[in-house]
Amino acid sequence: MWDSFTIRRKMNSFSRRMGWTWAPAKPYRAWIVATSRCNLTCKTCPAHAPVHGTDPNYFTDMKPEVYERVKRELLPGLQIIHLSGGGEPFLTPLLDQMLDDMADGRRYITVVTNGTIIRRKAIERLVRSPSLIRVSFDGTTNEINQAIRGVKLDRILEFLRTVKEFADRGVHPRFLFQVSYVVTRSNVHQMTEAVEIAHRYGVHEMCFGNFVVDDRKDEYAMRESLFGCPEEVTPHWQRAHDRGRELGITVWPMSFDCKERSEEERRQYKPDLYDGERIRQCPLPWWSVYVEVNGAVKPCCVYHWPLGNLLEQPLREIWNGPKFRALRRIVNTPAMPEVCRSCFIQERL
Ligand SMILES: C[S@@+](CC[C@H](N)C(=O)[O-])C[C@H]1O[C@@H](n2cnc3c(N)ncnc32)[C@H](O)[C@@H]1O
Ligand code: SF4
Repeated sequence: MWDSFTIRRKMNSFSRRMGWTWAPAKPYRAWIVATSRCNLTCKTCPAHAPVHGTDPNYFTDMKPEVYERVKRELLPGLQIIHLSGGGEPFLTPLLDQMLDDMADGRRYITVVTNGTIIRRKAIERLVRSPSLIRVSFDGTTNEINQAIRGVKLDRILEFLRTVKEFADRGVHPRFLFQVSYVVTRSNVHQMTEAVEIAHRYGVHEMCFGNFVVDDRKDEYAMRESLFGCPEEVTPHWQRAHDRGRELGITVWPMSFDCKERSEEERRQYKPDLYDGERIRQCPLPWWSVYVEVNGAVKPCCVYHWPLGNLLEQPLREIWNGPKFRALRRIVNTPAMPEVCRSCFIQERL
């Protein structure tokens, strides 16, 4: 028997398959950016990259009036909630209230954290709920992690230890524990050791990602990113992957950009987006919303342009408003927005 979330998801998927731009049911999934503030300034982070500038208004918790709207208009329909976005979710005072409102055992909650702020109540709540905690570290020695993330690894290990402590006492069957590790020139040789450390703390999955530089041209980004160098990373990834197999940890595959591609080639779809016959369909504009701290609503974590604002319009007007419908009209066609062409989300159908 399908639950109400599944029925609504299927209704909207039907609309997409029919080529309709109208989504009959509300979103069943959302990114809710609890805060864009952060206590760290990691060298890889787009929020602190030289191109970003330092607009002080950018770094703030979600406004209470925005959260009120989220709670009233969005939350009742949500099955999957990503409490992440720009900043550090464990920093916001709103976190406990959000978990009170959301962690009811039916919803799946995901949190990505830098692991430097230990809030035991929130951690316990997540471990005992259908949820995912992903902790980021970028080096297996204090020195390397500090050089990239500005904190010693020991501090993050304390967070991992706390999660393990709760997990050892009883964990929800749908709890998933992950580590995120952004591979750079300085830490690529530590990938296997990172898997071993994660294993010690009961981590289930190791998410190696590349250092994505987007428009950055600064010396650090140019030197440290191996996004265009699969030949340098793959042997390390293979060793880490094999070690993960031995230890029972899933090691995610990595995807790469190709520096030598011409401008024209870059405008083509990524091979995993276009199989030569059809564009793989993105369902997210029919399924999800991404709500910024200021109430701006987008379809997902990749598409940057607001399609409305919860402080100006009710969600239902935004969800089937002209901007959302215009995106639905083109997102699965050759006229898709540029940013969708290189999208990394795995939900494409
Ligand atoms: C932006 S952070 C926000 C959550 C939290 N503050 C944290 O650090 O985990 C989300 C994830 O993106 C990773 N990340 C940061 N900069 C990145 C980059 N340039 N390319 C790829 N991943 C990056 C972080 O390591 C982290 O795992
Ligand atoms: S901890 Fe996360 S959000 Fe903060 S600077 Fe580092 S990567 Fe960015």
